[in-house]
Amino acid sequence: MLVIEGSASSELARRTSEKIGCELVKPEMRRFPDGELYLRIPSGVEGEEVAIVQSTPEPQNDNLMELFFLLDAAKDQGAEKTVAVIPYLAYARQDKRFEPGEAVSVQTLRKIIESIGVDEFITVDIHEEETMQTFKIPAKNLSAMPKIGKSLSSHGLRDPILLAPDRGAVRLVEMAAESLGADYDYLVKKRKTPTRVHMKPKNLRVAGRDVVILDDIISTGATIAEATKTLKKQDARKIYAGCTHGVLVGGALERIYNSGADEVFATDTIECEVSKISVGSILAQAISE
Ligand code: R5P
Repeated sequence: MLVIEGSASSELARRTSEKIGCELVKPEMRRFPDGELYLRIPSGVEGEEVAIVQSTPEPQNDNLMELFFLLDAAKDQGAEKTVAVIPYLAYARQDKRFEPGEAVSVQTLRKIIESIGVDEFITVDIHEEETMQTFKIPAKNLSAMPKIGKSLSSHGLRDPILLAPDRGAVRLVEMAAESLGADYDYLVKKRKTPTRVHMKPKNLRVAGRDVVILDDIISTGATIAEATKTLKKQDARKIYAGCTHGVLVGGALERIYNSGADEVFATDTIECEVSKISVGSILAQAISE
């Protein structure tokens, strides 16, 4: 077994290979004068099981191209099994044709991955579970939520309640709440524009309690900031905001802290400044199964 690190997930690939106890391979990469990518896997992969770990945050298209080159180079040179480990899968939110004529982007990615001849696909907290059913190769959607729940037990939370910022995230929050042994509920969100959301009033028993808002993705931070303001008005004691994928675009952290949140955390599916929890052990277990 070899773990090959993609440049967007070098730390996570290292942690994963350490948990498996296998070799970590760093590809040779450089740019041609016109910006095209040169890539070489410096270890023999023939007859090996190869897991390529590469998340696809911004710059999504560069990270995807690198991933496709790595997968194809491994397959083409006789790897016995290639596993595409894409902890954060770009374009997963464009999973439907909302308007006629739109590209269903995540389906295009699925088709490319399958056409390379990848043997297995592994991801973490994919935006829409239904996307997994469309894969024609073995595909696993792992969740970071039980691990997030466990990590919260060392925070000394007072009478905690875990909240989803919308109904769609409840299934995730439930997993974290179960592992922490805490209550959970959800808020009601209405998105007005990509950067503006509105939280509908809802009676929750949060006064004097520590609240943890959990979501799959924090992108602009609008969702978490609005949720935090709503909960502050209802006299929540401390407010923690966490997610699996810290996409964090355009001053998201500042926006969230300015809204009154006490702490923000994410996992390392995207290596960002608030990656405080690693999914390395979860990936290692799934790769080794
Ligand atoms: C949307 O349904 C997702 O689960 C997240 O709530 C969303 O991507 C968060 O985006 P933002 O941080 O921009 O509000």
